[in-house]
Amino acid sequence: MSAMMTVSMTINGTETEPVEVPEDLMLLEFLQEYLNLTGTRYGCGQGVCRACAVIHDGPRGARVVPACVTGVAWADGRAFRTVEGHAEHDADGNVTAVTPVQQAFLDHFSFQCSYCTPGFVAAAQALVERLEVDPVPAEDVEGVVLEALNENICRCTGYVRYLEATRDVILATPGLTSGDGRAEGS
Ligand code: FES
Ligand code: FES
Repeated sequence: MSAMMTVSMTINGTETEPVEVPEDLMLLEFLQEYLNLTGTRYGCGQGVCRACAVIHDGPRGARVVPACVTGVAWADGRAFRTVEGHAEHDADGNVTAVTPVQQAFLDHFSFQCSYCTPGFVAAAQALVERLEVDPVPAEDVEGVVLEALNENICRCTGYVRYLEATRDVILATPGLTSGDGRAEGS
């Protein structure tokens, strides 16, 4: 039997109550079984498919981590965003506004079964936030998007619509590309 440890972390902006868990528990299990946040998906369980990807908000900004191979021992005290934390909700928990990334995925019909979608939302959102700090020339956007989404596996749609949706959000958002007159000093 695993040794136990007490963990607490910030999930979608809210600090969790300290809870005792097995010290070899993975973040994905913690989210699903202790917090009932089931939007983060279990795919390969080996850090390969990125269905379980969540955003880690750390000192270097938003970075994607695979929750299936991220231990709670490491996650303890850190901050994460799951797919439940992207859209805005009213007091009853109803979605009132989705993010530009989520809207673009809807507009482009990027997914079919949607099993992979939470991971793509995390990867695309983290990229958008990275470009807010460190924009790239417009001509480099396709390559940057491909690199950022390259580890996410989708069995349904062939990736192109996810890539095009993310590209279009970036190109349509002021400040994410350099040389557009808005990113530098304005
Ligand atoms: S389920 Fe985590 S990477 Fe596949
Ligand atoms: S939409 Fe089905 S796995 Fe991606």
